[in-house]
Amino acid sequence: MVQPVHVPVLLEEAVEALKAQPGGRYVDCTVGAGGHASRILARSQPGGQLLGIDADPESIRVAGERLMPYGDSVLLVNDNFSRLEPICYHHDYMPVHGILFDLGLASFQVDTPRRGFSFQQDGPLDMRVSPSQEIDAAEIVNTWSEEELAGILWRYGEEPGSRRIARAIVHARPVDTTAELAQIVAGAVGGRRGKTHPATRAFQALRIAVNHELDNLETALVQAVKLLGFDGRLVVISYHSLEDRIVKQFMRREASGCICPPETPACVCGHTPTIRMLTKRVVVPTEAEVRANPRARSARLRVAERIVNEEEQKGLIEGLCRSVEVKANAWRQPALLRRVRQLFGAV
Ligand SMILES: C[S@@+](CC[C@H](N)C(=O)[O-])C[C@H]1O[C@@H](n2cnc3c(N)ncnc32)[C@H](O)[C@@H]1O
Repeated sequence: MVQPVHVPVLLEEAVEALKAQPGGRYVDCTVGAGGHASRILARSQPGGQLLGIDADPESIRVAGERLMPYGDSVLLVNDNFSRLEPICYHHDYMPVHGILFDLGLASFQVDTPRRGFSFQQDGPLDMRVSPSQEIDAAEIVNTWSEEELAGILWRYGEEPGSRRIARAIVHARPVDTTAELAQIVAGAVGGRRGKTHPATRAFQALRIAVNHELDNLETALVQAVKLLGFDGRLVVISYHSLEDRIVKQFMRREASGCICPPETPACVCGHTPTIRMLTKRVVVPTEAEVRANPRARSARLRVAERIVNEEEQKGLIEGLCRSVEVKANAWRQPALLRRVRQLFGAV
């Protein structure tokens, strides 16, 4: 049987949460194999558009083939989503009705041994999402100090045996392959932990460090909110607790009327909510989905909706007027009015 390149996770839930509709304009920040993207496009025709971003050129190739039937309605960009705002500006693609992040990796990436993501198949210690990144897992494993290694294993893998593993790695250098590394980790912390392979946390930590996953996510979320039009939706699917914590804390902070530290007697921050959280409780896959696709088991989906307050509306309109260099009679210009309507998400 031919393995699918990737089975999209929480597909119906994510597309529903985006409120994908005809004429809508969407960004898929992790287009992968195009699974979510093709469903979003199907729901947003006629007139819908999708900008798909992925750091991996292989994902862009796979998504390109899959999304071919949508022709000009799709624009694919091979870049890191930490540059979300400049990408959208460059393509004059804002404001948008919805933005999706489906974090982590696609199955075809994990299942390709030469990419070095998996401890289940032997391959070089690579783990870079994009081949243009300078630092790979081999460099971290073979050149970072024992303390630095223990630090990332603890921070990004929440690995209780971080010090023992770091010591064993330094002792075993040079380490060249994923199988060697998995063996060193298993030797340092013992056999299986329940159903989990002993190297799971260490591999997660290295992957996060190689790809700056947490920093990229934080940077991109801030930019995403700015790009959303009135009532635009932000949908994020994460696969481990560190990512989910960042998403949850970000959404809480942005939805809050005050972000002063709790000990501050009176509010001094002047923060106004930019979003409202729509998922009081995180959405998880059904048992049936996990049975059919075990890779979905750790998925967590959160949704927020953009609020544009009056002050911001004024600022946006003024900014827009300046940008098109029109003066007093700006409001009589149909092109500008169309743009303002677009800006506030009215389709
Ligand atoms: C889980 S897959 C997405 C699958 C996709 N939703 C689908 O249905 O086919 C995650 C994708 O995000 C990409 N990715 C991971 N980190 C990225 C980043 N910082 N910038 C852009 N793409 C990234 C990976 O290359 C991978 O293709």
